[in-house]
Amino acid sequence: MQALPLPKVLVVDDERAQMNALCDTLGDHGFQTLGFSAGGQALEALKAGGFDLLLADLMMPEMDGIALLQAALALDANLVCIIMTGNGTIATAVEAMQVGALDYILKPFKLSAVLPVLNRALAVRKLRLDNAKLQQRVQAHTEELEAANAELERAHRSKDHFMATMSHELRTPLNAVLGYADMLLLGLGGTLTAEQQKHLGVIKASGEHMLSLINDLLDLARIESGRMELNPEPVVCQALVDDVIASLQVLAAAKGLSLDGRMPATEVCLYTDRRALFQILVNLANNAIKYTDAGGVAIELSQGAGETGPLTRISVVDTGVGITREDQAKLFAAFAQVGKRDRRTESTGLGLYLSAELANLMGGRITLDSEPGRGSTFTVSLPGAA
Ligand SMILES: Nc1ncnc2c1ncn2[C@@H]1O[C@H](COP(=O)(O)OP(=O)(O)OP(=O)(O)O)[C@@H](O)[C@H]1O
Ligand SMILES: [Mg+2]
Repeated sequence: MQALPLPKVLVVDDERAQMNALCDTLGDHGFQTLGFSAGGQALEALKAGGFDLLLADLMMPEMDGIALLQAALALDANLVCIIMTGNGTIATAVEAMQVGALDYILKPFKLSAVLPVLNRALAVRKLRLDNAKLQQRVQAHTEELEAANAELERAHRSKDHFMATMSHELRTPLNAVLGYADMLLLGLGGTLTAEQQKHLGVIKASGEHMLSLINDLLDLARIESGRMELNPEPVVCQALVDDVIASLQVLAAAKGLSLDGRMPATEVCLYTDRRALFQILVNLANNAIKYTDAGGVAIELSQGAGETGPLTRISVVDTGVGITREDQAKLFAAFAQVGKRDRRTESTGLGLYLSAELANLMGGRITLDSEPGRGSTFTVSLPGAA
């Protein structure tokens, strides 16, 4: 076993005989000692470092114990200092403790009284050193973390920038393609054969699908970087639901599904972001149509009381394949796709994630009630109205 280094004690006392006696006795009791009779010399020795404990007389000519102690602590803040003092100067000893001495011992003293004080002080010294080491490690880790964070932040910013620029760059030509397809479909480029009409219809549908994908990716980038901004305005829910139904009617009809609104006659007006709510409802209704083969889809508007005030609920109800309990837990993650694989064509699994994030931003949430084989009901609840 390796022997621990002996604790190193610096003894300073202007009474040379007493200093020497103390050094010798401590040396016999497992301490490594060095003695000086003047503060100035002691300080020089302290500058070289390596001491654990300073044992200094209080009253000394030139530099007194308090001045020495202060200078010593300035050199090594973890040094432990003990002041030796006569009975008449206890008040000054207290002052010494206020400037950083750990303890004081009264002269004349017995070794049996001094040793426990020294050992206590050395235990404090060890604690201080351990603490300093810990602090250094924490500091080093913090610096590493900060550097890694800064790196991540940079990567994030360039990813955001890339996403924003790319989606813009992609949308511009795509809108031109869609515009020209529309123009040709309207017959502005001349009469079209049925075959040409059909092909143009495919170009248009694919282009629109691509546009919605690009928009989803842009929204994803905005939401993930916390830069999604909402623009609340008064929105009449009935009119909004009618718009959602109008935009998806063709899709539902193509699958032989009904798509209806079930709404109260009294106008429900919410102060919210119209585009976001529209997008959520289109995503939910689109899913409902996609995952339903027979029956239909209904969008129901209702009002109720929430924990903190009135709530407006819009539910998209389908008679489709339904979702198992296990899958329900995974649905709202980005790029999550569950259920049968053959139904997942043409989708990315972003719709529900984005919808739930948007609903959150709007102060609301999306809940799900579904049973395999019986259909699903996705409900957006938003605060307000009534
Ligand atoms: N009404 C529903 N009935 C049954 N399953 C659904 C329904 N809505 C969503 N799902 C399931 O949840 C998954 C995630 O839906 P989400 O809208 O996020 O993605 P997606 O429709 O596959 O793709 P995207 O919306 O990005 O085009 C879907 O793949 C589907 O398995
Ligand atoms: Mg979807």
